[in-house]
Amino acid sequence: MSKFSEFAEARRKNTKMVPVPSVSIMPERDLGSSPALECLHLGIDFGGLKAVDDFNITVGKTEICGLIGPNGAGKTTVFNLLTKVYAPTRGTIMVDGHDTAGMNPARVNQLGVARTFQNIRLFNSMTVEENVAVGLHNQRHCGMATSILRLPHHWKSERYYHERALELLDIFDMTGLASNEAGSLPYGAQRRLEIVRALATNPKLLLLDEPAAGMNPSETAELMENIVKIRDQFHIAIMLIEHDMNLVMNICEGICVLNFGKIIAKGTPEEIQRNDAVIEAYLGKQKKEVEA
Ligand SMILES: Nc1ncnc2c1ncn2[C@@H]1O[C@H](COP(=O)(O)OP(=O)(O)OP(=O)(O)O)[C@@H](O)[C@H]1O
Ligand SMILES: [Mg+2]
Repeated sequence: MSKFSEFAEARRKNTKMVPVPSVSIMPERDLGSSPALECLHLGIDFGGLKAVDDFNITVGKTEICGLIGPNGAGKTTVFNLLTKVYAPTRGTIMVDGHDTAGMNPARVNQLGVARTFQNIRLFNSMTVEENVAVGLHNQRHCGMATSILRLPHHWKSERYYHERALELLDIFDMTGLASNEAGSLPYGAQRRLEIVRALATNPKLLLLDEPAAGMNPSETAELMENIVKIRDQFHIAIMLIEHDMNLVMNICEGICVLNFGKIIAKGTPEEIQRNDAVIEAYLGKQKKEVEA
């Protein structure tokens, strides 16, 4: 049995998806806790373009959820709304039961939303460890005077953050690269470092924008394993945008499909694969060309 089908098999055995009020589904095991994310009638307009409209979703506390759709569908825009890069034109975003209205990106990150970017955004001239330290920064409680005067608490806290950074890098077997310049890493390793930096902020909801882009098949298989490992180890929700359907169909428990800014389908991987609107959105053009 291939690695992909092993994952899909395990997912099918462990996950029972149940309906919830926002016309969504979530894993039955998460029903007792507040959802990691709830969006109600979320939308944003750019001039006359409704880039995202009436976006409703519930993501369970430990769910791996896929957000898919053709190019330009509005997927990255959803992540920009969730992280407050864009202020919504309408609708509500609840994170772990808290309404995020009026919050800025830093505040929503402290509340528990962390992300990676479609186009990698690392601090290239800083070391790998320093990039992770930037993520850890939002948990620092050491005052300015303590740091300037180099009081004992400063050194204790420095040691803690150094060890924590190495612990996080170890998830991807990257401790040996801690003192390398981030910009000198191969592409796949830079993508992994972005995930580590996001994890360093201690999220409840991790948003991954095309994490497998540019990776070769063995890197993708390893990434898939690591996404599941991160969810299991940190007990967090992960929402991922991905064009690699093997990855999506094998590790996501719930999937939401966007087309022209609107949700056209929500369901389990099995339901999504046989949904006519989804097949049309992805294959419609080719199908019509073949028929003509
Ligand atoms: N800041 C902006 N100003 C104007 N239009 C924008 C802005 N950001 C996104 N858009 C438009 O919103 C639509 C959705 O873009 P988005 O980047 O969210 O798509 P996507 O689903 O992530 O696509 P891809 O798979 O290619 O990454 C596109 O038509 C895009 O041009
Ligand atoms: Mg995008």
